[in-house]
Amino acid sequence: MKHRELKPEIFWVGAIDWNLRNFHGYETRRGSTYNAYLVVDEKVVLIDTVKEHFFPEMLSRIKSVIDPQKIDYIISGHVEMDHSGSLPAMLKLAPRAKIITSPAGERGLKKHFGELPYQVVKTGDTLNIGKRNLQFVEIPMVHWPDSMVTYSPQDRVLFPNDAFGQHIASFERFDGQMPLNIITEEAAKYYANIVLRYGSQVEKALNAVSSLEIEMIAPSHGIIWKTHIEKILKLYWKWAKYETEPRALIAYDTMWGSTEKLAFALYEELEEAGIPTTLRKLSTTHITDVMTDVLESRLIAIGSPTINQDMLPTVGGFLTYLRGLAPRKRTGFAFGSYGWGKGGPERVEEMFKEMKFNLPVALFKVQYLPTDDDLENMRQVGEKLGTLLQSTSIS
Ligand code: FEO
Repeated sequence: MKHRELKPEIFWVGAIDWNLRNFHGYETRRGSTYNAYLVVDEKVVLIDTVKEHFFPEMLSRIKSVIDPQKIDYIISGHVEMDHSGSLPAMLKLAPRAKIITSPAGERGLKKHFGELPYQVVKTGDTLNIGKRNLQFVEIPMVHWPDSMVTYSPQDRVLFPNDAFGQHIASFERFDGQMPLNIITEEAAKYYANIVLRYGSQVEKALNAVSSLEIEMIAPSHGIIWKTHIEKILKLYWKWAKYETEPRALIAYDTMWGSTEKLAFALYEELEEAGIPTTLRKLSTTHITDVMTDVLESRLIAIGSPTINQDMLPTVGGFLTYLRGLAPRKRTGFAFGSYGWGKGGPERVEEMFKEMKFNLPVALFKVQYLPTDDDLENMRQVGEKLGTLLQSTSIS
C-alpha cells in the first residue's frame, strides 16, 4: 500500500479501518482511519502509529517512502492504543528511533509498554530535524491527559492528534474531496461523544494554537482540514463554549405507547412554535447519534415510563452516558408515564438536577394512558417551552 504526499516531504502513512463499526461504544458507521504521518527531513520523523493489527498496512505505506530503519524519531501525540498500538513493532524495525512524548505520555506509555527510549518534551519545546523546527504543545484531556500537538512552522501544518478528527474511512484525504456536510457531521459526532466533557481544556488548546499560522490540520482520524480550516476552528470554539441553538431534542422510550404519545404531542407543539426539534426513540436510535443531537440543542426533553419504580433501562443508559459527557448550559424537561408505582419521570428529573440543567417547567406525567386532556396539557407545556426557547430567558 502506498503513501499519500500531503506537502513536500510530508506523507500520510496511516491505515484505513473500513470495517470499524464500534469504537469503545461509539457507533462508527462510516468506519475510521488511524492517521500516521512521516516527515522526511535530515532526520526522519513518524508522527503517531496505528492500531496494532493495522501495523502491516502502515509499514507498507512507510516502505513506499523510505526504509523504516532510517526513522530517527517517533512522536507519540497520544497514548491511546489506536495511535500507540504499533509502537513496539515499529521500534523493532526502527532501532535508532527515540519516542518523543509529553511527561504524561511517558507515564502512560510506560504503563503500556514498559521502558522504551523516551525523550520527553513539554509545551514550548522544539525539535530540530534539519530544515524544520517542530514545536510541541501539550493539550491535556483532548482527549487524554497525555495529548500533545505537534506543529511544523516551516510547513504551517498542525498535527493535533484526536482534536478536529472524525471517524470516516475513505480514500479521500482532504476536506475538499468530500461533501463538507458529511465531514462536519462526523466532526460534530466525534466532539459530542469524545470531547464534550472537556470544553475548558479545548478552549485552552484553541488558545494555545491560536497564534499559529495554519495551512493544514492533520488529525489522527479521518479527513485532513485544508480548505475549511476556518470552519472547523469556528465550530470548535462554539462547542468548547457550550454554545447551543434554540432547538430541541426529545429522547424517549415507551412500554405501551403512553410516553410516546406525550413525546409526539410535545414534538408537534414545539415544531408549531417554530422550534427545530429532533425526536429520537432510545430503543431504536444509537446513543452516539442522540448524543450528537445534544451538542447544539438547548432543550433536552427526556421521556420514560416507569418500571420497577425507575426509568426504562434504555433511558437510564442514555442518561448515564449523557451525565458522563457533562453538557452545560442546557434546559431539561422530564416527562413520562406510570401505573401503580411512580419513579420513571422522577428519576429523569433527578438526573437533570445532578447535571445542573435549568428546569423551568415541572415534570409532566400521566397514569397508564394519556387522556385527551393530558395530551392537551402536554401541548400547553410544549407551547410554554417553545416560548421560553425563543426568548433569552433560558440558557
Ligand atoms: Fe484516537 Fe483518544 O484516541
